[in-house]
Amino acid sequence: MEVFHHRREIKLRVVSLKKAGKSIGFVPTMGALHAGHISLVRHARQQNDVIVVSIFVNPTQFNNKEDLVRYPRTIDADLLLLEKEGCDFVFIPDEMEMYPEPDLRVFSFGNFDKVMEGKFRPGHFNGVAQIVTKLFDTVTPDRAYFGQKDFQQLAIIRKLASDCRYPVEIVACPIVREADGLAMSSRNTRLTPEERQHAPLIYKTLLKAQETGRSVSPESLKKAVIDSINDDPFLQVEYFEIVDDKTLQPVKSWDKPGTKIGCIAVLAGKIRLIDNITFNS
Ligand code: PAJ
Repeated sequence: MEVFHHRREIKLRVVSLKKAGKSIGFVPTMGALHAGHISLVRHARQQNDVIVVSIFVNPTQFNNKEDLVRYPRTIDADLLLLEKEGCDFVFIPDEMEMYPEPDLRVFSFGNFDKVMEGKFRPGHFNGVAQIVTKLFDTVTPDRAYFGQKDFQQLAIIRKLASDCRYPVEIVACPIVREADGLAMSSRNTRLTPEERQHAPLIYKTLLKAQETGRSVSPESLKKAVIDSINDDPFLQVEYFEIVDDKTLQPVKSWDKPGTKIGCIAVLAGKIRLIDNITFNS
């Protein structure tokens, strides 16, 4: 496994491999790797000749300074995991390498970023777009792998790749969970033992909502989910929305065609957890 710190070096290496006919699979991450990230690497391994993983805690996507400072960084353990998974290249730039000068680009996602994460984390998706475009320009992947856990991010990246005409296939990978159902996240390590014990209620409630499904209106289901999680003294719902998977806009009725997704963000103390579930049509 080769580790790169500079854009120019990894780009040259990838370009020459592509000239030799090799396909490039790319998994962008912010490190503190867990089984969710590793599942993306495994998907990439199955479909490409060369696997590139990037590790960069991107400051421009953090709208909360404390979250950025406290974001877990476990680079040595990350490298061991990636080596074991047969990753070929790891790209670990520093901030100066990615942002030698402030990135003033403003991206437009229509209504995609007016809801949910976009509404509660202003500027977040603009920061994601800034870094992902720079990473795509550097790594020039044939396929890039993203988790369905960050459902809205995935939709925004698909739009970005198509708007900017990147010749890359965006591949979505399923959510990986802990044994008790909690969606894996680098931020889970920052939960107190008590918060960690209560956090699985999020997925349990989503499963119950999925079961109830169309027997009640989206509005009543939304209220039931929010109330039952807020009843837990360790958890506070920031939003729960039932949205159309293509437009990301909240739905008022189940009758319109298209898949509906229930997306949630919950605060467990200071830690923000997100998850989602697909409603059967
Ligand atoms: P990060 O949170 O490190 O996640 C990297 C990738 O792993 C994302 O595509 C995310 O959806 C996926 N992932 C995280 N937890 C997962 C889980 N439990 N199951 C499946 N996939 C999971 O997302 C980012 O970093 C950043 O925004 C990034 C795209 C790297 C840009 O900075």
